[in-house]
Amino acid sequence: MEKRFEGKSVLVTGGNRNTGLWIVKKFADEGARVFMCGSSEESTMRGVATLGDMGVEVDAMPCDVGDRAQVSALMDHIERVGCGLDILVNNAADQGICLGGPLDMDPEAIIKVMNTNVKGGFQVTQAVCNRFFMKRPYEVGGPYRGVAVFLSSNTAQRAIRNRTAYCASKGAINSMVRTLALDLGPLGIRVNACAPGYIYTERWNSLPQEAAARRRLNCPLRQEAKGSDIANVVAFLASSESGNMTGEIVTCDAGCSCQHMPEDVDM
Ligand SMILES: NC(=O)c1ccc[n+]([C@@H]2O[C@H](COP(=O)([O-])OP(=O)(O)OC[C@H]3O[C@@H](n4cnc5c(N)ncnc54)[C@H](OP(=O)(O)O)[C@@H]3O)[C@@H](O)[C@H]2O)c1
Repeated sequence: MEKRFEGKSVLVTGGNRNTGLWIVKKFADEGARVFMCGSSEESTMRGVATLGDMGVEVDAMPCDVGDRAQVSALMDHIERVGCGLDILVNNAADQGICLGGPLDMDPEAIIKVMNTNVKGGFQVTQAVCNRFFMKRPYEVGGPYRGVAVFLSSNTAQRAIRNRTAYCASKGAINSMVRTLALDLGPLGIRVNACAPGYIYTERWNSLPQEAAARRRLNCPLRQEAKGSDIANVVAFLASSESGNMTGEIVTCDAGCSCQHMPEDVDM
């Protein structure tokens, strides 16, 4: 296997379950030292055990990304380990599920989802830039100081029902990626996003078979992404292969976004 990240250190937020596990595994398999966090001690330790079963060694510490003091404590931990950070993957997300429709949803729910997805992603990026990336020298044409990759969603562009807070947060992430790219590019820091569509996660296990089949019919490629598909895009965006890209939102959704309507209603 190619080892694009030998000698690099990576932080993956929300690396303790579902897609995050595959992102952690991808970087570790390609030679990186990987740090990850879940939101709680229990979920983080469960992730360490799952990754162990997948043959992946990881350095983990719980961190609620929406809590600035916890983000700072995570940075202290990484600093103590002494290997710095080269790559940040902002994968942690509040899915904002079951919050109700726009007529009955508690408006405070918007703040809660934004706190993790937007403020969380921003303050981890800010801390990583200040504590690690900006400590390296940089001149145009030389190696970049660091790379950040956000997990957005194709729902930032094409809405799904009763997920106002989540879709709005992913739209905000897309705008934030572009503004961060503008401001941080001249400083030698690249910022991009991967926007997935359906990803197979443990939540699919409770879906009735017909619902899973209809979701697949909604995909021109007839299959949802595997965690490893998304990890491959994230790794590309973090690698030197995307060295001239910043401010981009790269969609990975089995072709869902190129259709006007799913096949079963396209008569
Ligand atoms: N699944 C999909 O079909 C899909 C589609 C499009 C985009 N995406 C995006 O892709 C990424 C991964 O999706 P996923 O479905 O694998 O996610 P997921 O199963 O919902 O897992 C979310 C992860 O984020 C962590 N997290 C949540 N709140 C946090 C907080 N405040 N602080 C730190 N960590 C926190 C969770 O940790 P705990 O275990 O501690 O809760 C968990 O590891 C997300 O950004 C998601 O929005 C997913």
